[in-house]
Formats: sequence, structure tokens, C-alpha cells
Amino acid sequence: MRLIGNKTKLLGQIESLLLDRGVEGGTLIDIFAGSSSVGKHFKRRGYKVLANDILPSCYAQAVAAVEVSRWPAYRKFSGRYRDALSSKDFIEGMHVQGDILEHDDGQESPRRAARRLPLARAVHYLNTCIEPVEGLVYRNYCPGGGADRRYFTDENGRRLDGVLGFLREGYREELFTRGEFYLLLSALVDAADRVANISGTYGAYLKNWQASAKKTLWLTLPEVIESSQRNRAYSEDANALVGRLKGDVLYLDPPYNQRQYAANYHVLDILSGYHLYDDLGKFEASLYGKTGLRPYDHLKSAYCVRRGRRRMKETNGSGVFGDVFSAMLDLVLSTKARNVLVSYNEEGLLTRDEIGVILARFSGSRSYDFDNDFREISYKRFRSDRDREENGDGAGRNYKVLDGRGKDELAEWLFFAAREGARVTS
Ligand SMILES: C[S@@+](CC[C@H](N)C(=O)[O-])C[C@H]1O[C@@H](n2cnc3c(N)ncnc32)[C@H](O)[C@@H]1O
Repeated sequence: MRLIGNKTKLLGQIESLLLDRGVEGGTLIDIFAGSSSVGKHFKRRGYKVLANDILPSCYAQAVAAVEVSRWPAYRKFSGRYRDALSSKDFIEGMHVQGDILEHDDGQESPRRAARRLPLARAVHYLNTCIEPVEGLVYRNYCPGGGADRRYFTDENGRRLDGVLGFLREGYREELFTRGEFYLLLSALVDAADRVANISGTYGAYLKNWQASAKKTLWLTLPEVIESSQRNRAYSEDANALVGRLKGDVLYLDPPYNQRQYAANYHVLDILSGYHLYDDLGKFEASLYGKTGLRPYDHLKSAYCVRRGRRRMKETNGSGVFGDVFSAMLDLVLSTKARNVLVSYNEEGLLTRDEIGVILARFSGSRSYDFDNDFREISYKRFRSDRDREENGDGAGRNYKVLDGRGKDELAEWLFFAAREGARVTS
């Protein structure tokens, strides 16, 4: 899943700051998990990971990538579709498509490779044995569907509807275990994301079809990161959840500007929540606006509300957090973890000093130790095709150039803080 703000490029820096400050191993709480890139990295390093995100699409990724820690058997599914799965055409098709070989680097023992087989079969079944249908996705997000939106080609919309219907039925009649189900769902969300006709986010679709959008929707074998830890995924408001989680490091990577993720990933969220909507007709009738949003007040984030604005008070159900500063302060002071690591962007709603003040309170110090606990990492701004289109001259949207920096040059910040007397973990 292509998520704006993912920290794939910062993993090394995050890990090295932790090591530098004497933290290695234990439990990491990734409470704004997004694409789960950070959770996955630390899971591979042997940490126990607790991943949380309020968005259904991010939650689906977190269950598949963080919580699932063994290759699943798909017993019920394999039993029900035995004839189809053992047919000559199906088996040959799997080899031709390479569905079974995706992660095979040639070094694996056949026994190890065989563990992937049940998942590979299920994925191939979704790719090749499901009838396309004209359903919610086709009607609302494809040009042929009448709503005049161009997120997916008609063919891909029908394929998505077919697989969604199959997964929804399977979920409802418990054809899959939780892990089995979310692996397939996350593979579908990833596949949809690869053929979506967007540039950057789902806040808009493109008028013309991108080459990638014209490709046929095709699920690939999701990776299972094996682990002996009891990793878990949650989907709650971070502030409501944080006090219930035990861990060594609380990693915080909240949104840093006023753009609500819920309005920018709604299409993937709808795919991810499809199995849960009791009344699909009623849900479909609630879709609105140019981009087919679903009502999303319950998913709005206080971290996107500028300090001093209190609009969020009643909207997220927990009713506590007004704006970004009070939400961040509440979050940091509510954790039981001994260490906190914050990722933030210098263009964000909170200033460097405000984050320092919050972390100094957590550490019980008079001031934040910027010399030792802070890192600044510079990078080039991502510019979408839409940026360029909006300006019409190929020069892009007019972003402000920050003091002392070149055009498009920005910095990511990393802040570490430990409770007093908790500098080194066991
Ligand atoms: C900057 S992204 C995280 C990126 C992530 N570290 C990665 O590498 O992909 C912020 C995430 O926080 C989530 N989020 C925003 N407000 C939240 C809240 N109050 N509780 C839980 N999740 C929230 C958003 O849905 C979004 O996925």
C-alpha cells in the first residue's frame, strides 16, 4: 500500500537512534502504524510488535504483516475447493504465473517452501476462479458504473467486486481463520492500490488512465514474517488505546498536517471494511461527493487539528482530545512504555520546541536534551503528478521554501525520550 508519510526510508535511522540510546529488543508499540513499515522492520529484528491504526485499510495491513506470524494452512478453504485446487489447469497456471515462487530465492529447502503453498493456492484461486460482478466498486468508482468516477477501469472494478463478495461470504461463514482472511484481504488491497488511477492519494482520481491503472488486477503472494512473539494489531483511536498497552518503546508517527488520512484513503478503507458492513445497500447510499467519500467523522484525527482549535471534542467517540498539542501531550503522558520515539516533519503543526516540551515532561526533566536525543534527516519533497498539473507549467504547486533550505528540501525529525532511570532496557 502506497501510504503518504510511510517511513520505509527512515528505518535505519530509527533503529540506529534506539541503539544509540541503549534500547535493543523488547516490545515496540507502533501506534500510528500506517503501512506497518516500522512494525515489520522491528518484527524482523525479533521485537514483539503491537501495531495500531484507526483506518481499516491500515489495520488490514497490520493484521497481515504484524499479527500473522506463521504461514497459514487454509484447511477449510482447501477442503471445500479441493477439486478446483487439484485440477491440472490450476496447478499449471500457478507455475506459469509464478504465484508459488514469489519469495523463493533458490536457497530454501522444499519443506520450507511448501509452507507457502496453501496461501499461494488461495491467492491463485482469487486471481483465476472468481467470476467478475458489477457491485459497489463498479457502480461507484468506475466510469461504467454511473457515478462518473475513474478510480478503476470497469474490468478491474468488476474483478474487485467479485473477490470482495467471495471474501465477505467466506468471512461470514468462517471459511477462513482471522489470519488467513486478513492475508487475502491485504493482498487484495495491495493489488487494488497498484491499479488505482491516482497520483499519490485517493483525494482525487485522474482524468486520463495511467499505464499502471490499465493493467489487470492481480493479487501477489503476501509475505508472512515469521516470529515466535505474540504480535498483535489493533484499530482504535491511539489516545483511547495507549494506556492499555504494555511495551518498551512507544513509537509515534502521527499525521503532521491538516490533511485527514480518512479522506485520502477512503477507497482502500471501503475495500477493507466490506466484509463488516451489515447493510451494504445502506452503506452504498451513504457515499457522497466528487470522490465517493463515506461519512468519516468517527475516523477524524485530532493530530490534524491546529493547536487552539477545539473542533474535535465530540467527534471521535472518546471525547477527550481537542487539538494536536493536547492529543500528543495526553498520549505521551498516558503510556506505560519507558521509552518514546517520535517521528515528525518540520512542516508539521507542532514545532520542534513543542515536541521537546512534551517529551521533557515525559522524562521528568526541566528541558529536552536536543544535543543527544534528537536527529534531523533531510530529504527531497515528493511531488505528485497532480502538483504539476495544478500549476499547469510543469513547475509544480508553490510550496513555501523553508528558511535556510533549498527548494523542495525538507527535514524529518526523530526525537527519543526515556523515563527517568530507564535509559537502558533489559
Ligand atoms: C504518518 S502515517 C504513519 C506512517 C507509518 N509510520 C508508515 O511507515 O507507514 C500516520 C497514520 O496515523 C493514523 N492515525 C491518525 N490519527 C490516528 C489516531 N488518532 N489513532 C490511530 N491512528 C491514527 C493514520 O491513519 C495514518 O495511517
